[in-house]
Amino acid sequence: MTANTINWGILGCGWVARDYVAPGIIHAPNACLVALSDPDAHAMQAIAALTSGTTANHDLDTFLQTPGLDAVYIATPNHLHRPLTEAVARAGKHVLCEKPMATTANDAEAMVRACRDAGVQYGTAFDQRFQARHRKLQELAASGALGTITAARVHYACWTPGDWVPPTQGSHDNWRVDPARAGGGAFIDLAPHGLDLLQWILGEPLIEVGCLLQRRVFDYPVDDGAVLMGRFEGGALLTMNVAYNCPDAFPRRTLEIIGTDAMAVARNTMGQTPGGTLTLINARTGEAHEVSVPKAEDVSPFQTQIAAFSQSLLDSVPFPFTPERDLHTMRLLEAAQANAGGVRVS
Ligand SMILES: NC(=O)c1ccc[n+]([C@@H]2O[C@H](COP(=O)([O-])OP(=O)(O)OC[C@H]3O[C@@H](n4cnc5c(N)ncnc54)[C@H](O)[C@@H]3O)[C@@H](O)[C@H]2O)c1
Repeated sequence: MTANTINWGILGCGWVARDYVAPGIIHAPNACLVALSDPDAHAMQAIAALTSGTTANHDLDTFLQTPGLDAVYIATPNHLHRPLTEAVARAGKHVLCEKPMATTANDAEAMVRACRDAGVQYGTAFDQRFQARHRKLQELAASGALGTITAARVHYACWTPGDWVPPTQGSHDNWRVDPARAGGGAFIDLAPHGLDLLQWILGEPLIEVGCLLQRRVFDYPVDDGAVLMGRFEGGALLTMNVAYNCPDAFPRRTLEIIGTDAMAVARNTMGQTPGGTLTLINARTGEAHEVSVPKAEDVSPFQTQIAAFSQSLLDSVPFPFTPERDLHTMRLLEAAQANAGGVRVS
């Protein structure tokens, strides 16, 4: 760490690391990419072109001994989040770990404990908190511009066959459809984003959840779609549909918040990229107007997230999104998944 820069390493150099995390670190004004590690030679080769000069190795111990390394972004399959977080914390480095935190709430708790015991910061990399239109929506909701919020709806879906290969990747081991490595299917992969985002935007925790899971299109051993319902502490209701079985050509990234004074509709904002639209519809007139965000803020949410986490470390203050709120989300996910089902009526 210098006075104004955090030195980052990335553990797991696949799709999200190569296309979003590495560019985010490189472009954040207070971050520098100093180390990479991945046992897969192809993954290392693909990321190397982007990050020339960054130390790359396959060995965790050597990676953790990179001179000046301050913080590690963990972007591996989900089942490795716990052991890698524990190893990184033991080495005295701060952790920003991809979602879902882990495949079980128990593992997630162990990760937070390991970081606390080692005196390092832990953050879950929910990039969508840093999407410029989501930040604007959070401000609007907090200011009361929507009135009393009664309901929030999310549709976040994609097409993920068993042999799915991420965009821009030549070949791929699709761990996402392996229950042991992923912890579930579309539900555990996509629902964490919506749950985290809505609890932040509404400014209150979700306190009740339920879900139905489906295996409708694909024959892999995890769910390819799910519907969640829930209730926030203040009484607003949640409905969310996540899916791996929704053709990518359809509208499939929508977040709506309904209030007594206005309804907010965010389209194509959920995901990894800036852009999309945010529309407010007036409850009395029905008129819709698009809410703009400053051009300078409409940048990669990964970049903004890296800059925010780096700044917390530089200022020695807690990252504003606490591990406890991430644990609550993890417990909601686990409870909903374990109790999935409805009342059968014959
Ligand atoms: N925030 C988002 O929008 C978003 C998007 C995609 C993925 N993700 C999350 O990011 C993580 C990675 O997903 P992905 O799509 O990039 O997967 P991926 O399969 O493309 O990449 C994972 C990489 O981890 C590597 N790896 C495996 N074991 C390792 C180890 N012991 N040490 C270091 N590297 C190891 C693999 O070789 C692979 O290159 C997952 O937790 C996923 O849920 C988040």
